[in-house]
Amino acid sequence: MKIAVLKEAAGETRCAATPETVKKFAALGVDVAVEKGAGESASVSDGDFEAAGATTASRKDVLKGAGIILCVTGPESQSLDGAEAGALLVGGLDPMRQRERVEGYAAAGLEALAMEWMPRISRAQSMDILSSQSNLAGYKAVVEAADAYGRAFPMMMTAAGTVSPAKVFVMGVGVAGLQAIATAKRLGAQVSATDVRSATREQIQSLGAKPIFVENVAGIEGEGAGGYATEMSEEYQKAQAELVSSHIAKQDIVITTALIPGRAAPRLISDAQVATMRPGSVIVDLAADAGGNVEGTVSGERVESHGVTIIGATNLARTLAADASALFARNLYNFLSAFWDQDQGRPVLTDDDEIVKAVRLTQSGKVVNERLTAA
Ligand code: NAI
Repeated sequence: MKIAVLKEAAGETRCAATPETVKKFAALGVDVAVEKGAGESASVSDGDFEAAGATTASRKDVLKGAGIILCVTGPESQSLDGAEAGALLVGGLDPMRQRERVEGYAAAGLEALAMEWMPRISRAQSMDILSSQSNLAGYKAVVEAADAYGRAFPMMMTAAGTVSPAKVFVMGVGVAGLQAIATAKRLGAQVSATDVRSATREQIQSLGAKPIFVENVAGIEGEGAGGYATEMSEEYQKAQAELVSSHIAKQDIVITTALIPGRAAPRLISDAQVATMRPGSVIVDLAADAGGNVEGTVSGERVESHGVTIIGATNLARTLAADASALFARNLYNFLSAFWDQDQGRPVLTDDDEIVKAVRLTQSGKVVNERLTAA
């Protein structure tokens, strides 16, 4: 078995393999061929890959004879000319937005596996690229906020007087939100947080932050299928808006991370609420790519509104390319090795497996994933 590791398109800094995963694949009896320069932006040289036992070559040569192709983001299907029919294409393929590419993978006879559609079951935790990358994004969101904030985070008692601690409010306490709370606490801020899933209350408290929750409104469990949030009732949304209004005016930094799968991000902060914050405050909107949690967010940009800086953060994990690649590459290895059949020397992806059903997009020349065929 040969595994090809692609060099990503411009703008993507991460790499789908690291010397560590090359060694792990080699232990399974696999030859790993890395496209030249694939690790450069993640601080891994071709020499590092070669020292781990990989070969490095051109795109055409790495694809030749490869049974598995690894990538971080899905490539244009034309750029895979020369790939073997039946090869697995494994990575973050963004199936909803990249339908045309998915059709191209099917036409090329590739079996495309979208790692972002990993189900939320304990067996799949170590394979979950959304979790591994969100965790880093949550950390970096706080670092970006601290950088844009013209004051300090921790309380400082000095001979020249006292500096008060920053007040940080985290909205949406999933993987990114939890890491944002932990990071802001480490920097010495006073941290509060909210979510629609009541299970997060304890998690917030266990990190030493203050939970801010809507009380006494029917149906506030907020937890839908697979541990994701559901869309909330109008009554809840109204109560949440009132609660947020009174709290937000006292905050210096707000980090929003709220997402509902398959829908636009819920609007959590209005322009009028932004206006109540004191000038110099900072909002980092991690949902910018999904439409934003904050009115006025511009995806990928830093804008100023009523004296408040709003950062429309997109893919912050890319700014931590070395760590993000290490975690991403391990997710891919964990996935493939879990299905590895030693006798056949390849992964065997059984049709009735919950993970396979969720991530498989194309097979035998067709788009087969229900989420795509039903759309
Ligand atoms: P996410 O990225 O889909 O959403 C982020 C957060 O926003 C969630 O906590 C969600 O409840 C919250 N949210 C949605 N609408 C909101 C609103 N209107 N107001 C306030 N908050 C709102 O979620 P993420 O980070 O992917 O994780 C959600 C849960 O899934 C976590 O409990 C996590 O531990 C679990 N999980 C389990 C996995 C597994 O078992 N393999 C893998 C990944 C996550």
